[in-house]
Amino acid sequence: MTSIRTILKLFVLIAVHGTNSENAFRSVPVTVKTYENETVLLPCYVDDTEGKLRVRWYKDNALLGDSMDAHTLLPPRVRMHANYSLQVDLLQAKDTADYTCEVIRPEPWGPIRQTHSIEVQYSPTVRTIPDDGFLEVRKGEYVDIGCDTTGTPTPIVNWRKNGEPMALLEHRPRLRFRAEHRLLAGVYECVVNNGVGDPVKAAIRVVIHDAPVVSAERSFVHTAVGLRAALAARLEFAVPPARTAWYRDGRPVRTDDRVVMMVQDNVHQLIFRTVRKTDLGNYTFRAENKLGMADVQFKLTGVPNIASFKVDSSLNKATATSFTLIWEVDSYSTIIEYNLWIRPYYGRLSTTEPDSFTTEPPANHWSKIVVPGDAREGPIHSAVYTVRGLTPSTVYEAIVTSRNRFGWSKPSAVLHFATEPGAGRTVPSTSEYSDISPILEESEPEAHNISQAQVFERVSELSSGARENSAAILLVALILFLQLR
Ligand SMILES: *[C@@H]1O[C@H](CO)[C@@H](O)[C@H](O)[C@H]1NC(C)=O
Ligand SMILES: *[C@@H]1O[C@H](CO)[C@@H](O)[C@H](O)[C@H]1NC(C)=O
Ligand SMILES: *[C@@H]1O[C@H](CO)[C@@H](O)[C@H](O)[C@H]1NC(C)=O
Ligand SMILES: *[C@@H]1O[C@H](CO)[C@@H](O)[C@H](O)[C@H]1NC(C)=O
Repeated sequence: MTSIRTILKLFVLIAVHGTNSENAFRSVPVTVKTYENETVLLPCYVDDTEGKLRVRWYKDNALLGDSMDAHTLLPPRVRMHANYSLQVDLLQAKDTADYTCEVIRPEPWGPIRQTHSIEVQYSPTVRTIPDDGFLEVRKGEYVDIGCDTTGTPTPIVNWRKNGEPMALLEHRPRLRFRAEHRLLAGVYECVVNNGVGDPVKAAIRVVIHDAPVVSAERSFVHTAVGLRAALAARLEFAVPPARTAWYRDGRPVRTDDRVVMMVQDNVHQLIFRTVRKTDLGNYTFRAENKLGMADVQFKLTGVPNIASFKVDSSLNKATATSFTLIWEVDSYSTIIEYNLWIRPYYGRLSTTEPDSFTTEPPANHWSKIVVPGDAREGPIHSAVYTVRGLTPSTVYEAIVTSRNRFGWSKPSAVLHFATEPGAGRTVPSTSEYSDISPILEESEPEAHNISQAQVFERVSELSSGARENSAAILLVALILFLQLR
């Protein structure tokens, strides 16, 4: 520490003001950067061979002492030597100032002055705004937090949010932003440093009140009579705390030994220990606080799950006019039939914007192929079907739906596949074909590489949590940007 202090005790020379009077000084103006309890000697060295001079010292323009006045004015810890140097002992923060020595010379010369500075370096201290380090606002209100600092030199303030450094463009002691989003809540910590001693920290917890947010990983829960089934809703956010309830057809669900509610780690479950036929239906989970409410809908159903195509080059046999498709589906009841929907793929490249697909509506209608189900009980059912009568070197898309005794499943994700090159074209020979307008929600055409069968995730299946997080990051960036302007 001592050695660092010695190094840091800089004597910075300041350019001499271009006045003639300065030339009479043999000392030069200095800025002394030093520490508490140290001693500093400021020179006022002039040629006094022509007799005793009168010297006055000023601290920031207030008279401190006068050589002709028996030093009576001098405050404690301050001395003036016979050679007019000013000595300040046991330095304190309040000694940081400009010190001017004024030499009053015999007539006809006027007084001359020289100014030095003392900077007593202090390690930083910090006090939060608000004082108690806690701020609660409603969504949309302004958050105004900060860290008041002391310390010499003036400390630099850096911020962290929830432990992560915040990318602010400047070191600001104050943060002001609108609580646009609940994810702006968190622990904001300032780290204050001026190179003297250790950095100090202080934290402010910002709580943002908003309507609750709920989500469900699975809103379509497929089951069968006699099985156990559970509906699960996640209470993502509830500040202030929310009242929660399960509803069926607008009425609270009645619970008993068989139908129970469970809450663990913000996941609210409605559990059917053994499903009865009367349990199948629509359910709602609702969370409500004074700022609003959020619902998430569920369907407890006996219909098959969404089928998924399997991609396996050894099984997806392609010829010029045929292609073998394989899919799997969960159903607790026997699958009665599948509907396989096929059409040529229309996602060709646009001519005006070479890198994007055309948004023209499909020229080709879906063809429906009815594929019989299997006799198995499940729960996993798989099917293999070879589509014939296709055009060579053509990309197709396919969707499959499944039916059991409870009804039709939702459609699968779109599968893209291609036929091999070849000459000629055979007449469609299999199954019943019928022209049907598309009934399915289109997924984004994004198959730039369609040299082989590919399954595309549906955009709607992206987790909402991921989207919220990126939205919040964007918001923070935007708010900070706006503030800096
Ligand atoms: C300066 O002296 C005071 C009183 O003795 C002491 O409390 C303080 O810690 C000292 N400061 C430093 C930086 O040593
Ligand atoms: C002035 O006097 C003090 C105390 O006697 C001494 O420490 C200092 O070196 C002197 N300064 C000059 C410039 O002679
Ligand atoms: C469940 O909700 C869907 C749409 O949300 C509706 O079509 C269906 O009729 C509802 N089922 C029952 C049993 O109310
Ligand atoms: C297309 O996919 C195949 C197989 O995955 C790969 O070998 C090929 O490099 C891809 N082509 C392009 C243009 O991405």
